[in-house]
Amino acid sequence: MSTVDEITALILDDHAAFRRGFARLDDARDEQELLAIWDALALHLDIHAEAEEAILYPHLVKHGDDGEDETADAIGDHNKIRDAIAESKLHPVGSERWWAAVGTARRENSEHLAEEEDEALPDFRRHASSELRAELGHRWLTFYGEHKNGRDLPFRDKDPQSYVADHR
Ligand SMILES: [Fe+2]
Ligand SMILES: [Fe+2]
Repeated sequence: MSTVDEITALILDDHAAFRRGFARLDDARDEQELLAIWDALALHLDIHAEAEEAILYPHLVKHGDDGEDETADAIGDHNKIRDAIAESKLHPVGSERWWAAVGTARRENSEHLAEEEDEALPDFRRHASSELRAELGHRWLTFYGEHKNGRDLPFRDKDPQSYVADHR
């Protein structure tokens, strides 16, 4: 298996990019910089959640030791992050309400990354073969190619229990 294109490695790369993106916001000097950084980061967060919901969680929910709970938690977290991103777009960049929404996205995302990295991904690794991890990594890259700039992705919240029921 090529370890760089294996799905959990690709997911960890995205997670590192999210942490860097939020740190970059701290260093932005004006609203234009804030907007440029946040637009790119928010889009990446939204695409990442859709990619996990299309590629990672359908497998984990069926095969993980605690797959149904981990999946329901993850969809709920993705919804909170999506909601905070949508809320940020209702306010002028750099305003108090904008920072509050971005802060919520940051906090929810940090909590979610920890759960994913410490629970969901370990569970997935224990149950997925090298071949499957490589194949899903390939699908991950294809997904990003097909949905450049979020093309054709609705970024809508999903009901966690219905998602689990539909995929288990
Ligand atoms: Fe993730
Ligand atoms: Fe996630």
